[in-house]
Amino acid sequence: MTPIRVAILGSTGSVGEQALDVVRGLPDRFQVVALAAGGNAARLHEQATEFHPRALYARPGSDADALRSAGLGEWQTLEEIAVRDDVDVLLVATSGLASLRPTIAALRAGKKVAIANKETLVVGGHAVREALEAGRAAGAEIRPVDSEHSAIWQCLWGEAPENIDRLVLTASGGAFRDYDLAALEAVTPEQALAHPTWKMGPKITIDSATLFNKGLEAIEARWLFDIPLERVDILQHRESVIHSLVRFRDGSFKAQLGEPDMRLPVQVALTYPDRAAAEPAPPLDLATRGALHFGTVDAERFPALGIALEAGRRDDTSAAAVAGADEAAVEHFLAGRIPFTSIARLLDRALQAHAPTARPDLDTLLAAEAWGRHFVNEAVAARV
Ligand SMILES: NC(=O)c1ccc[n+]([C@@H]2O[C@H](COP(=O)([O-])OP(=O)(O)OC[C@H]3O[C@@H](n4cnc5c(N)ncnc54)[C@H](OP(=O)(O)O)[C@@H]3O)[C@@H](O)[C@H]2O)c1
Repeated sequence: MTPIRVAILGSTGSVGEQALDVVRGLPDRFQVVALAAGGNAARLHEQATEFHPRALYARPGSDADALRSAGLGEWQTLEEIAVRDDVDVLLVATSGLASLRPTIAALRAGKKVAIANKETLVVGGHAVREALEAGRAAGAEIRPVDSEHSAIWQCLWGEAPENIDRLVLTASGGAFRDYDLAALEAVTPEQALAHPTWKMGPKITIDSATLFNKGLEAIEARWLFDIPLERVDILQHRESVIHSLVRFRDGSFKAQLGEPDMRLPVQVALTYPDRAAAEPAPPLDLATRGALHFGTVDAERFPALGIALEAGRRDDTSAAAVAGADEAAVEHFLAGRIPFTSIARLLDRALQAHAPTARPDLDTLLAAEAWGRHFVNEAVAARV
């Protein structure tokens, strides 16, 4: 079988490392063509030595600058990597917005793009969707990697769009699902970083603790599956075993299950439409698991969720602005400058203050995201 040629943007991060684990599990099935990192030069060096990519990227000005003369491969920009002729699947696993333009370029060039990164769709949804339509005739595809969207995607295989009634995103409830509401004011970054079911990078882990992440996922679902936010539900499910569900118009539900481990959705996205005969994650044993638990999400405990959903429903630059505001608010919380509960308060203020633009283009979306970050930075600076 011809190997699938993969480029990984964000190879040194949590998702990127797990993607390389998937490659290790199926060495004949994949060829790593390109690896791109931010500033973790030591890790990029190790990865390049192990996987021998043809192309590499590291953020300019980072420690990786010293690697450029090490003869590891050709150094290219993220955008050049994204449109390389020898890339079959581009995995977007960077954090933040670094890969938004490369993703758009790849889709326009007709590439298969496996997207783990949330910001790309939440901030750039309008532009990404447009690029997908432009590149579709040349083969462009978006394959979801986030476990919830991968689950919905898998439930939808072979189903006609008119059969879909609702999408149901499951939510573990994050680190503070059982905390006393009054105690949330005083929780520390360390406590917020202790996710009960998933091991992830710091930004997404804090977003899981506020449940803002679930709002971002609902917005992503809207772009990925072309369905209005009003038809996306959130269901609390403590064990993170049911990754998400689809309700069909005859009342049937389909769900996708597995242990909480990103390697499975990464593998599904890389090998689609095949299912590889390799289990990258620990097997799920339902008999040993015993009971699974469900409930409604407590809107009072998680105000950031409602703010994200409201921003998404506006279908203009509001989601980009609030995503930027959250980027800054989470940074301030992690640096100990604001309490946990201020994250949602700042998001609410940003949403109220934002002057939205309808039918935004990419530059307008990026400007709205930058406005959100600036708004929060100013608000925090005024208080400190
Ligand atoms: N972790 C999960 O389980 C999970 C699940 C679903 C979705 N996601 C989403 O996937 C994305 C990545 O999450 P993560 O948890 O893997 O994040 P992470 O552990 O923080 O990793 C981020 C990666 O992006 C790289 N990076 C950062 N800035 C960059 C830049 N300017 N140019 C190039 N590379 C850059 C980092 O490089 P260095 O480390 O070298 O600086 C690192 O490789 C996020 O959008 C997240 O919401 C994650």
